[in-house]
Amino acid sequence: MYRIESKINTSTTEFKKSKEEFQKLLSKYRSTLEKVKHGASEKAVNRHKERGKLLARERIDLLIDKNTPFLELSPMAAYGYYKNQFPSAGIITGIGVVHGKEVMVVANDATVKGGTYVKETIKKHIRAQQIAMENRLPTIYMVDSGGVFLHEQAEVFADRDNFGKFFYNQARLSAQGIPQIAIVMGSCTAGGAYVPAMSDETIIVKKQGTIFIGGPPLVKAATGEVVTPEELGGADVHTAISGVADHFAENDRHAIQICRNIIETIEPREKQILDIAPIEEPFYDPEELYGIARVDLRKPVDVKEIIARMVDGSRFQEFKARYAPTLITGFARIMGYPVGIIGNNGVLFSESALKGAHFVELCSSRNIPILFMQNITGFIVGKQYEHGGIARDGAKFVHAVANADVPKFTVVFGGSFGAGNYAMAGRAYDPRLLFMWPNAKISVMGGEQASGVLIQVKEEQLKARGQEMDPDVREKLRAEILAQYEREGSAYYSTARLWDDGIIDPVDTRKIIAMGIAASLNKKFPDTKYGIFRM
Ligand code: COA
Repeated sequence: MYRIESKINTSTTEFKKSKEEFQKLLSKYRSTLEKVKHGASEKAVNRHKERGKLLARERIDLLIDKNTPFLELSPMAAYGYYKNQFPSAGIITGIGVVHGKEVMVVANDATVKGGTYVKETIKKHIRAQQIAMENRLPTIYMVDSGGVFLHEQAEVFADRDNFGKFFYNQARLSAQGIPQIAIVMGSCTAGGAYVPAMSDETIIVKKQGTIFIGGPPLVKAATGEVVTPEELGGADVHTAISGVADHFAENDRHAIQICRNIIETIEPREKQILDIAPIEEPFYDPEELYGIARVDLRKPVDVKEIIARMVDGSRFQEFKARYAPTLITGFARIMGYPVGIIGNNGVLFSESALKGAHFVELCSSRNIPILFMQNITGFIVGKQYEHGGIARDGAKFVHAVANADVPKFTVVFGGSFGAGNYAMAGRAYDPRLLFMWPNAKISVMGGEQASGVLIQVKEEQLKARGQEMDPDVREKLRAEILAQYEREGSAYYSTARLWDDGIIDPVDTRKIIAMGIAASLNKKFPDTKYGIFRM
């Protein structure tokens, strides 16, 4: 493979200025994330510790193998909502390694409103289970939760992908032979009782864990029976009398050790074979990405310069280098793993869509994971292109991406607008993981374009009535729409709603994608079957 020849001069004032601007954005993100990670009230944290309990992230640190990374997902979920009283949506999820095996961890944070579930908590829990299913990852639930956040019950209880989906997923995961292990480290009330009860194996901590369908207040109200939580459903009851739990633990540490022992006994499954090479650092310094990534998305950026700072040896076997240059396609390695990369270098034309569809077919026929590097304003518009069948060719690309069953990964490093989002494996196209850089923006179209369209529509309405739009009204409308798109298009807005799996530092992209590919090898890649491509 040839090494990409960078054309960037990193010693120019312009480059240094861009780098500074980006780093400012990044440090704002880092400090916000730090605040979120310590977001629970001091009172709640102290109370939790006084009870002899470890914090959710401390529990995860003890669970995973020493000196291995934990890929935390959506740590900024619910950011900006509920007066920021639900940091990380009260639940920590992510991929870690236990006894050398990748696992999915789902850990309630009881210092956040008793570990209760709001809409984003549910989304995060279900997303973790979906990732576990797609990648065949044993799932460990560290349960410490008061169940549904009752004030929000209308948002979390009755719908298809609400609270009940957890248990449905556990049954389906277990049926597929994906181990489901629960450690009861606190409360499991009402529906929450089913997390340990639906698990393959359950551990419960002495004088700390409780499992009951109805808590003591409900029992008293319903039957008049007065009972303590421990008598009703403590560790003694469930390991010696009811059999709802299987292992009795003295404390958090002991419970985590038992869980590690359980994972040790799980037989490794047959893995997907990939031609893995020794890891090589990129030839160009990944920190240069800070000067290349755009804070002002109107400035163009060459995706090959980004690829050069992400892939092993900065080497890239480009496919159709001379054809349809607004879509870059080619093969590379990321930390030794082979990967096909599709990156945007401008708007999508018919040729770019055809090139993309062809390349997706190559990757799926060769069983090579695909990385989509998104910075897309959409498909080309205009009479010439409509007549040329842009919708037909775009549909071929979308078809190919939708049906490609090799693992797909998506990173938004600039804009993600319009149907370009779909063709480039946006959230609806089920990439195994999707991340945003902090400068990234996502919306149906850019603010300028949206305000242009809406003003035009209004003006046409007025014209039909023989009226005209007042220039002040037009300006006000424009400013309002721009402000709305600015706010709703930001990476923070996206990540708070779980439209992605998190905001990441550009320099970490390579490591994170490699972890994603490593996790994907736990399940044999399914055979891809395509439908009808409109010719
Ligand atoms: N819905 C809404 N808010 C809840 C809640 C629930 N299910 N459970 C707890 N909270 C809130 C409390 O009001 C409190 O809010 P505050 O910080 O604004 O005062 C906060 O969460 C912490 O609760 P607290 O009881 O002080 O903490 P704790 O650690 O002593 O106990 C629980 C935690 C979960 C064991 C306990 O709150 C409880 O039993 N909750 C009810 C559980 C239940 O019956 N759930 C059924 C729903 S499916």
